[in-house]
Amino acid sequence: MSTLKITEGALKDEVLVLGLVSTNEKGGLAIESGDLAIDSKSLLVSLNDMGATGAVDEVIKVPGNSVRLILFTGLGKKSKIYPHETLRRAAGAASRALDGTNSATFALPTNDLLTLSAVAEGAALGAYVFSDFRGSTKSDHKAAVKTITVYSKFASNPEAKALLVRAKVIADYTFLVRDLINTPPSHLTPDAFTKKIAAAFKSTGGLKAGLKISILDEKQLKSQGFGGIIGVGQGSANPPRLLHISYTPKTPIKKRFAFVGKGITFDTGGLALKPALGMEAMKSDMSGAAAVCAATLAIAALKLPVAIETWAPLAENMPSDKATRPSDIITIFGGKTVEVLNPDAEGRLVLADAIVKAQAGKNKLDGIIDVATLTGAQVVALGTRTSAVMTNNEDFSHEFLAATARSGEQFWPMPLPEELRESLDSPVADMANIGDRNGGMLVAGLFLKEFVQQDLPWLHLDIAGPAFNTAKAHGYTPVGGTGIALRSLVALVEGA
Ligand code: BES
Ligand code: ZN
Ligand code: ZN
Repeated sequence: MSTLKITEGALKDEVLVLGLVSTNEKGGLAIESGDLAIDSKSLLVSLNDMGATGAVDEVIKVPGNSVRLILFTGLGKKSKIYPHETLRRAAGAASRALDGTNSATFALPTNDLLTLSAVAEGAALGAYVFSDFRGSTKSDHKAAVKTITVYSKFASNPEAKALLVRAKVIADYTFLVRDLINTPPSHLTPDAFTKKIAAAFKSTGGLKAGLKISILDEKQLKSQGFGGIIGVGQGSANPPRLLHISYTPKTPIKKRFAFVGKGITFDTGGLALKPALGMEAMKSDMSGAAAVCAATLAIAALKLPVAIETWAPLAENMPSDKATRPSDIITIFGGKTVEVLNPDAEGRLVLADAIVKAQAGKNKLDGIIDVATLTGAQVVALGTRTSAVMTNNEDFSHEFLAATARSGEQFWPMPLPEELRESLDSPVADMANIGDRNGGMLVAGLFLKEFVQQDLPWLHLDIAGPAFNTAKAHGYTPVGGTGIALRSLVALVEGA
């Protein structure tokens, strides 16, 4: 994890990061160096010779005079102001290109404090390398840039310093999410997941930070009636868990939210075994759980005045002689019965248990949010970079979408059409776990809706595509676990 600093005045660093933009259709270029005055003439000549375009995600390195290296990161078309997310991504792309570097100064447009915050956040988020499991090749893989300095005229502004601390918290807890996702299921069983979160809980400050943690094991889950978590986890030698974190602020409580995250540490599909091709990506099926747990710790680290109750149902979905069979009927916590027609639709079963449990607390909630890599249909509908939001309360959804506009994460509202609900009817149980194949993402949402009290504002975030990047790295997003949803959850709480 890098150190984040801010500076103004004379530039002293190994590497300087500058913005590059296109000024017209004929290949015109300009340098955006924010508050740092530079002599750009000769640089622009070489950049032209090199065929630079200033396009987004273009990164060009040139030798410098007063600094060892200058790195240009594309901001797209020249503009008076750049969207925060453009700056975040450009800074992140630069950081990713700086693995093995000790320190770099980012001189990008920072017209105001929020722009500065976006640059710091992007630069920090891009400085991520996962090498925990490299053995003999470890030394071939360089570490992320160690010290990131943002060049800005706001250097002595106390608010700017606070925003840098915030950016560091966002990056640290996003890295926790990414690490958990990237850790293979051999090393991230449900039990191992709880231990890693318990360690992070401690380093966030534990009880002193207003946090509490508790874990139910398979025996307790069984005796207390968590039929969804047990039914999904029973095929595996690695037994399921239900992890609970609560955060109570020391300051007056503005609101109370519950977070619930899908924590399938590996989804083979169970007896509805998935095809081998691509199954390895199912190590990411705990991304929702990782996001809600890390977001809760981040909210505590930022001392935000909102109480959070977080639930992570954790299980490994495996085929075996103990596994749940198609046609088995399970009883969700609270009493609803579900006919398991497809054991690969397991996320909704563990979530149903946890969603019901989350509403059984003594404090009245202002909202509940579940986060899950729930359906392949989400990826078909929205692709790999846009997540879906479904809701029973349009105001809450708008509030969340406004938060995503600030966080820079791409979310899109999806409906829960009433007419699809009857496809979940079962001839033998209260409900079946699958319904109409068409609109599969919405059917999954409608399944979960059955477990939410009508008057409780609820959001269902399906992050199946964006949680795990199997394509190329881009902006501040690496290959593998991305950390999606954490920033928007934090932004929602900040706006509460
Ligand atoms: N974990 C998968 C969903 C998924 C697919 C996540 C692709 C990330 C990328 C989920 O448990 C699943 O298998 N869903 C089934 C549901 C179906 C059987 C109704 C699906 O989407 O195919
Ligand atoms: Zn599945
Ligand atoms: Zn799954």
